[in-house]
Amino acid sequence: MNETLDRWTTRRAFILAVTGAAVGLGNIWRFPYMTGENGGSAFLLLYVAFVLLLGLPVMMAEILVGRAGRRSPSQSLAHLAMSAGRSPHWRWLGLFGALTVFLILSFYSVVSGWSIEYLIEALNGDFVALTPPEVGGMFDSFLADPLRMTFNHTVFMLLTMAVVAGGVSNGLEKLNNLLMPMLYLLLIVLAGYAATTDGFGPALAWLFTPNPAAITVEVVLNAMGHAFFTLAVGACALMAYGAYMPDHQSLPRAAVAVASLDVLVALLAGIAIFSVVFSQGMDPAEGPGLMFVTLPIAFAELPGGSVWLAIFFLLLLLATWTSSINLAEPMVAGLQGLGLKRGQAAAIVGVSVWALGLLSVLSFSTMKDVDWIGGMNFFELVTTIPTDLFLPVGGLLIAIFAAWVMSRDTALRALDAGPNGFRVWQFLVRYVSIPLVVVVLASGLI
Ligand code: PFF
Ligand code: NA
Repeated sequence: MNETLDRWTTRRAFILAVTGAAVGLGNIWRFPYMTGENGGSAFLLLYVAFVLLLGLPVMMAEILVGRAGRRSPSQSLAHLAMSAGRSPHWRWLGLFGALTVFLILSFYSVVSGWSIEYLIEALNGDFVALTPPEVGGMFDSFLADPLRMTFNHTVFMLLTMAVVAGGVSNGLEKLNNLLMPMLYLLLIVLAGYAATTDGFGPALAWLFTPNPAAITVEVVLNAMGHAFFTLAVGACALMAYGAYMPDHQSLPRAAVAVASLDVLVALLAGIAIFSVVFSQGMDPAEGPGLMFVTLPIAFAELPGGSVWLAIFFLLLLLATWTSSINLAEPMVAGLQGLGLKRGQAAAIVGVSVWALGLLSVLSFSTMKDVDWIGGMNFFELVTTIPTDLFLPVGGLLIAIFAAWVMSRDTALRALDAGPNGFRVWQFLVRYVSIPLVVVVLASGLI
């Protein structure tokens, strides 16, 4: 256990930290646009199924490894493998996780920067009395401006690294504890307002009317990737947090609490956003800009709309901030494991992630049409492959490690759910989650 880091002292603090990692852009930005691009209800159904069958059991597996190892992900994996008489090469899984979060954080910071832009514009009253096409135009001209986007991306990375450099912080978790319920409340108000618009019925139909015909291999792959992404599972990021989980806390209970909240937040955001889409005759498959062209319109209808829009983006930023801190943790913990000081590790991670993020920034202007692979520009590539491929592969390996490699007694103790709870979890991971990931990935490759 690294002495310089404090451990979350209460069960509640741990749940808050994991919630902070889970709830973020994945729920409010990514879930709606992926649902829109992947056939609506078909995607939603698969995503919920994957959360239950994969996300939850593998989330428990991942936190369990960290908790049992009480070290950085690589060190925990090597240590636990060796004490079970297995190969220390499992440590490479920690490195793979670090690569995954490196790629994810690089675009996550850029998109969080969009929220900074919107916060400022909302405070300026720039959205007042704009028509939907004008909101779209404003967003497009922002995307076409690499300097403004770089500025926001830089600010966001600085904010993230400032906290990360300080070590696992209770301060931000407390702030989160105080303010996140406000974000949920605001989403409930928005969804409630949406219920009074004529887009509400079509939005519900789009989200909840079964549509098996829309299910394709691609939709299944996207839904699986999103389930991992939204729960922050598969990149050893929760493993890094598991190292600080207090003793005597049921891991399944913590995981179920976090996952339920995460799904609920996504549903509320989806209802609010698709109601706007359908009442304004917009395209559900608009893509990554979906949230940014719909929410200003939704808020404009509310009394004091600009103020609420600004508050919303401020709260969203807080949510993405805690997710980014979690994304940075496996890299920083890894470098610390190599003997670097925490501040140095944070600086190295911050600068390299920032630099990679510039490629995402430019993907909306000068590098828009640069084909990196399969017709995707950099932003399209970096928002797809790490999520749809790396997270499931990482999750699969973590699941294999926890359910087949680690010693049974160590895993049993770290799950902290009694022998029966352990049996249920182990059965799910061994015979449901692991085969499911393998089958989906294999059908994706074919
Ligand atoms: N779960 C975060 C979200 O939904 O925004 C994103 C994320 C965090 C993905 C941490 C992966 C990760 F390791
Ligand atoms: Na999420």
